[in-house]
Amino acid sequence: MRIDDPKIIAALPALSVDLSRSASLAELTSLSIGGTTDLLRIKKHECIPALLNLLDSQGVPHRFLGGGSNLLVDDGELPWVVLQLASPQPDVVLEANFAHVDAAADLGRTVTFCAKNDLGGMEGLIGVPGTVGGALRMNAGAYGMQIGSYVREVKLYRAAARRIEILRGDQISFEYRHTSFAPDDMMLAVKLELPSKAYKEILQGIRICNEKRRSSQPLGQKSAGCIFKNPPGISAGRMIDELGLKGLNVGDARVSDRHANFFVNAGKASAKNMLALIADVRGRVRSAFGVELEHEVVIWNA
Ligand code: EPU
Repeated sequence: MRIDDPKIIAALPALSVDLSRSASLAELTSLSIGGTTDLLRIKKHECIPALLNLLDSQGVPHRFLGGGSNLLVDDGELPWVVLQLASPQPDVVLEANFAHVDAAADLGRTVTFCAKNDLGGMEGLIGVPGTVGGALRMNAGAYGMQIGSYVREVKLYRAAARRIEILRGDQISFEYRHTSFAPDDMMLAVKLELPSKAYKEILQGIRICNEKRRSSQPLGQKSAGCIFKNPPGISAGRMIDELGLKGLNVGDARVSDRHANFFVNAGKASAKNMLALIADVRGRVRSAFGVELEHEVVIWNA
């Protein structure tokens, strides 16, 4: 979608928003899939309510983009503009056992930075791509931990109230890959409380998680992590693997040979290819196991 309303274009500099024309979502997502649209990069949280009021008043639909690492975006010219936070510097500030982190901060760098300052707990998240905001919204987790356990406060833009609010950790529910945030809430910053741990000890945990991940997941390939959530007590990857579906493809969209719940873009896969592969695998799991798999990856259909 192209922003051609002169009123919006003229207002953007004062709102500290940069406009990129016809940005390719394929270049902004780890799957390298997705069409084009105008991209608005937001440099000041405080300007978000005014920006969104402006877009709404001019009838411009929008979506919020985090790190693009758990996202499958449709092909072609997209019918909404995309908003993304620019990361301030520094994006992590420590104060005793608290880490104040901007939502646009890279998750891996945040875990490492905290570790170097003897703050642990998040070792399992090393190797999970994306931003802290994305991890927060999805309650990202791995190897027995989830980010929600460490959240004490969240600053967010509440679309329903049209304002920036601060929620305490106990006002938010964090479940398996799910939170109580509304779909159109935008994560802005988080205060984490992390246990004190010696860097050396954290490093050891990080090494173990890295090793496990390297041996079981296709890290060098274009993917969005796990495609499906694990149904209670079962591994979606194991079920897909048991059906012999590793390597199954629709065009360049392919079930990974390494981990069957990772679907990779092995070349020039389109969203259409990837969605067809997802539907095919889902149907086969339903027929064989009677299990309806739910998407873990977020899908932006045009
Ligand atoms: N398995 C197979 N074949 C496969 C994949 C897995 O037999 O192709 C078996 C494994 O051998 C193991 C079991 O299934 O016995 C579970 O596999 P794994 O430990 O890889 O965990 P998972 O349940 O497939 C979950 C998360 C991952 C997270 C890992 C490690 C979900 C959907 N996936 O995977 O998260 O990294 O545990 O904690 O919850 C993600 O969210 O995108 C993601 C990758």
